[in-house]
Amino acid sequence: MSVLESMRSFMRRDQVFDFLIPDVPPNLDLTHGVILYLENLNVSFDGFKAINDLNLYIDDGELRCIIGPNGAGKTTMMDIITGKTKPDSGSAWFGQEINLLDMDEPEIATAGIGRKFQKPTVFEQHRVIDNLELAMAGDKRVWPTLTAHLNSAEQDRINEILKIINLEEHFSRRAGSLSHGQKQWLEIGMLLMQNPKLLLVDEPAAGMTHQEMDQTAELLTSLAGTHSVVVVEHDMDFVRSIANKVTVLHQGSVLAEGTMDEIQNNQQVIEVYLGE
Ligand SMILES: Nc1ncnc2c1ncn2[C@@H]1O[C@H](COP(=O)(O)OP(=O)(O)O)[C@@H](O)[C@H]1O
Ligand SMILES: [Mg+2]
Repeated sequence: MSVLESMRSFMRRDQVFDFLIPDVPPNLDLTHGVILYLENLNVSFDGFKAINDLNLYIDDGELRCIIGPNGAGKTTMMDIITGKTKPDSGSAWFGQEINLLDMDEPEIATAGIGRKFQKPTVFEQHRVIDNLELAMAGDKRVWPTLTAHLNSAEQDRINEILKIINLEEHFSRRAGSLSHGQKQWLEIGMLLMQNPKLLLVDEPAAGMTHQEMDQTAELLTSLAGTHSVVVVEHDMDFVRSIANKVTVLHQGSVLAEGTMDEIQNNQQVIEVYLGE
């Protein structure tokens, strides 16, 4: 049997894999239906207020788009959620019980918050499938040799994620040979291997072809429901294609929040952002 055939043999296409629905991490209390609470946050860099009394709530299972001009504080907000930056004041809670401000970056990742940076950071020399396997292993194991040692649940999981990220046919390609868009999907897949409940995604559509953008929109939409997804994006066509609720950040706080139509007709938003 070729490697390809042996891989195919355990791809079970029509089964629902309930292990792909993330386990709710211990202590993640979603009884109020809200997965993320950011309240009265403030951050200054050398006296400049990058985040200015920011309040933002993300519902369990929602797909939220965050837009806003350069310097609005979008990346800093993600840095606060993931523990990279500590605010000067305010609070950040993951569900009812998990105080993000008491935790460091690895603890927050383990608690179930995954972040995808703009630039894909896949292991170019390694195959697609090895990248996923490494992501599952985290740093608990040395570099995996072959998929043979994986148990069947792990193999199922990898295969299901290959499907979700549209790389089923490309599992044995070197990651370095993928297109830019495919590398972005692979990185999303690597995040999914860690079973996050909340995904933060920074400019997923940047540099993609139209077709890749459409597939990315589909991918992110399919993750919502079982995950909460927060997407920072500049491309307004892309935002329109996935958005339910859109938040506009400006000068470190929320300028407007609503449907894409409400946002596009909001006079203040037009002035500071869309009219640029
Ligand atoms: N580590 C830092 N040190 C100093 N200034 C920073 C730092 N990080 C961000 N800033 C400033 O804070 C503001 C908000 O930045 P950022 O969150 O990156 O905005 P956005 O992602 O919306 O473009 C910008 O004016 C930026 O220059
Ligand atoms: Mg940014």
